[in-house]
Amino acid sequence: MRSILLRDYGGKAAAQVAESSKPSAGPGQVLVSVRAAGINALDWKVREGYVRDAFPLQLPAVLGIELAGVVEALGAGASRFRVGDRVMGPLGGLGAYADHVAVDETRLVPTPEGLSDVEAAAIPVAALAAWQSLHFTGTVGAGSRVLVHGAAGALGGFAVQFARQAGAFVVGTAGAGDLDYVRSLGADLAIDYRSQRFEDVVDDIDLVLAYVGGDVIDRSWTVLKPSGAMVGTASPEILARTPEGRQGHWFVMTPDAALLERLAGDVARGALKSKVGGIVAFEDIPAAIERNRIGARSGKVVADFTR
Ligand SMILES: NC(=O)c1ccc[n+]([C@@H]2O[C@H](COP(=O)([O-])OP(=O)(O)OC[C@H]3O[C@@H](n4cnc5c(N)ncnc54)[C@H](OP(=O)(O)O)[C@@H]3O)[C@@H](O)[C@H]2O)c1
Repeated sequence: MRSILLRDYGGKAAAQVAESSKPSAGPGQVLVSVRAAGINALDWKVREGYVRDAFPLQLPAVLGIELAGVVEALGAGASRFRVGDRVMGPLGGLGAYADHVAVDETRLVPTPEGLSDVEAAAIPVAALAAWQSLHFTGTVGAGSRVLVHGAAGALGGFAVQFARQAGAFVVGTAGAGDLDYVRSLGADLAIDYRSQRFEDVVDDIDLVLAYVGGDVIDRSWTVLKPSGAMVGTASPEILARTPEGRQGHWFVMTPDAALLERLAGDVARGALKSKVGGIVAFEDIPAAIERNRIGARSGKVVADFTR
């Protein structure tokens, strides 16, 4: 079967299309015939070895962290799905860029009718990470002021909507071409991060969602209330960039099938917008991973295995 294999940490040539042997489903697992997989920034961070301490790997490894597909076989004791069911989910590990993947059945949810496999594969990691990071501190509610950095990205697009649903005043930073998109998701204010300094425009923020790292983190302390918190997903550097006495949290998404089922259902019935920003063929996954490193586009890029 086809796979996107990482043999050694490195640049764009390090992840390549390869032949791997088809796995079989172990106890409590299902074998999924993968139809689509979401491209994530974690792919290039893993490829380059940036996160080798946080996510130790035995190489070679198949990349890819979320998928949509069809159940092809059941492992011993697996009972949540039947052969032929359409499923979607995060793996909670690597291996989604392969024609077949053995997955713990507890990670997966049924793909709602009305969602294509490509649409489904765009949801798991981004929607779960956005929801959980927004509610990480348990403080966001009506009247809260939330600043989302990277609001047009995969996480940001969901987080703006979730914050709005919670009754918050929502500010999003994004590129100039994405400001209308960010407003359309419910942001009260959208700021072009290239031409405007967000700290000149907003203050009194209760929660900053740092879906972007670097100096964005350092500059955000000035717009936060003294009691406010910053939750970062881009890298653990947020911990080192948190001044004494301030609340800075490094967040890592936890697979949650019940939450994912609800959020995927919301997308299917039109209550939550999910944007597929691009579709690539399997062979183009290595290039799509590299493009994600260089600069994102709004929404989520998805690999369609049937192309
Ligand atoms: N810890 C976890 O559990 C977890 C889970 C999922 C994702 N993540 C991480 O979270 C981050 C966001 O993920 P994602 O999937 O949403 O990424 P994404 O789709 O690539 O979106 C990132 C967005 O940030 C924008 N951006 C870049 N620099 C910016 C700046 N200085 N200010 C404001 N916006 C800026 C990009 O716009 P341009 O078009 O201008 O480039 C892009 O729209 C990534 O670092 C990813 O690795 C972590």
